[in-house]
Amino acid sequence: MDIRFVTAGGGDVVAVMATEAGELLDAGKALDAAANGRIAKAMKAARFTGAAGQVADILAPEGIDFGRVLVIGLGKPDAANGMTVERWAGHAVKRTLTSGAEKLVLQPDALPTVSKAEAGAHAAMGARLAAYRFDTYKTKLKPEQKPTLQAVEIMMDGTAAAKARAEKDSAIVEGVFFARDLVSEPPNVLYPESFAERLRDLETLGVEVDLIEPAQMERLGMGALLGVAQGSAHPARLVAMKWNGAATKKGKPLALVGKGVTFDTGGISLKPGAGMDEMKGDMGGAAAVAGVMKAVALRKAKANVVGVVALVENMPGANAQRPGDIVNTMSGQTIEVLNTDAEGRLILADAVWYAQDKFDPAAVIDLATLTGAVIVALGHEHAGLFSSDEDLAHAITAAAQTEGESVWRLPLSPAYDKLIDTPNADMKNIAGKPMAGSIVGAQFIKRFIKEGVPWAHLDIAGTAWKPAPYEDPISPTWATGYGVRLLNRLIANRYED
Ligand code: BES
Ligand code: MN
Ligand code: ZN
Repeated sequence: MDIRFVTAGGGDVVAVMATEAGELLDAGKALDAAANGRIAKAMKAARFTGAAGQVADILAPEGIDFGRVLVIGLGKPDAANGMTVERWAGHAVKRTLTSGAEKLVLQPDALPTVSKAEAGAHAAMGARLAAYRFDTYKTKLKPEQKPTLQAVEIMMDGTAAAKARAEKDSAIVEGVFFARDLVSEPPNVLYPESFAERLRDLETLGVEVDLIEPAQMERLGMGALLGVAQGSAHPARLVAMKWNGAATKKGKPLALVGKGVTFDTGGISLKPGAGMDEMKGDMGGAAAVAGVMKAVALRKAKANVVGVVALVENMPGANAQRPGDIVNTMSGQTIEVLNTDAEGRLILADAVWYAQDKFDPAAVIDLATLTGAVIVALGHEHAGLFSSDEDLAHAITAAAQTEGESVWRLPLSPAYDKLIDTPNADMKNIAGKPMAGSIVGAQFIKRFIKEGVPWAHLDIAGTAWKPAPYEDPISPTWATGYGVRLLNRLIANRYED
């Protein structure tokens, strides 16, 4: 699908903005005038109120060069931001993608806190994100189920600034799509080795990619990572991706670490069968890290960033680890594995240590679909944010807000840390009782963060994918790509702007 910026012309469908109270904005008013007031009349007949996401779908009024008009509500104009424009554009694309229409024209207006150029760029972003589909394995789509939309034109005066921004943003879209594709792939196709191979492709963009195999993990003492992998026929991989774009090449990098469990059965602490297929997405943290690396490389970010992902399949099997096993980690600390389903923290223990040991990072941020408990606490609206560093926590919260990838901070404290003490080893991988599950997971990872290293953990179990009836026009399928935009923004804010 092409995105173009134009100043005039027609098309199959046009979309304009309206605010709550059912008021058309300028572009819509001009169109309505050309159509002799028929658009306003149809809005009234449809009881259109301009609520966010509400659509009045109007067929071919005379006097204008479009077959259909979509008046799409923004809600309250004062509350509208860039994300509001993206969702507005997303609704328009969702309505037209397979409708038979080939050309959609978006006419964004400036809003109280969004300039015209920003509105144009966000419209492009929303249109692209909404057009995403994962049809790789659909061989029998009927013609009416296939996308027909060939082009989205963003019509506005003074297109240059919006166009320049939108061109830069395409790197972010590519990163989000990379993450979504990885999360969507089935677990028989995407397993540690095949995942690692896909990451190797980032070399063509100038990313340095290092693949670490079990023999080397053994030498490094990564017993926790190897312990999770040992029940699977697929050997583990640890992949380090390095983007050195800062002016000072030796500047300490930001390290992003991702949980990449390509399928989580729970291991010997087997999960119940219902819905277990969703655990193909248990590599959403690794996918987000991969997506950010792709985005920063594509846009040649002036920042030093390393991505480290731990890739394993958590399976029960003759060689699987048992509840009660005690494993060694690269850090030297030992872990009593009391539940093989709390595997994410085990692989992250070795992965975050490796990232610190190898790259001496300025800060570490890990992303993981770590706990079901974070869904109990926050649903699918916010990722859980944990951090030992106020500055980093605030920077992440700000980036999350701008990009519409919300976070909510949860506490850490020595009292929670105590819950993972055990008489048998340095720590155990679950608390004695099922309580504060997401915090306990975070406390566990924290034990592998070196003194003085700013660290944050994002529990994305509720946000990496969303269950079926969930409606978000700019994230139309199961996999969201959550984290790519947030981290890309954080990098831009911290190291570039
Ligand atoms: N991958 C799961 C967490 C998860 C659950 C992600 C639902 C997405 C949706 C993780 O490995 C897990 O099994 N966690 C356990 C931890 C428990 C054993 C302490 C959980 O949440 O039940
Ligand atoms: Mn698990
Ligand atoms: Zn898991």
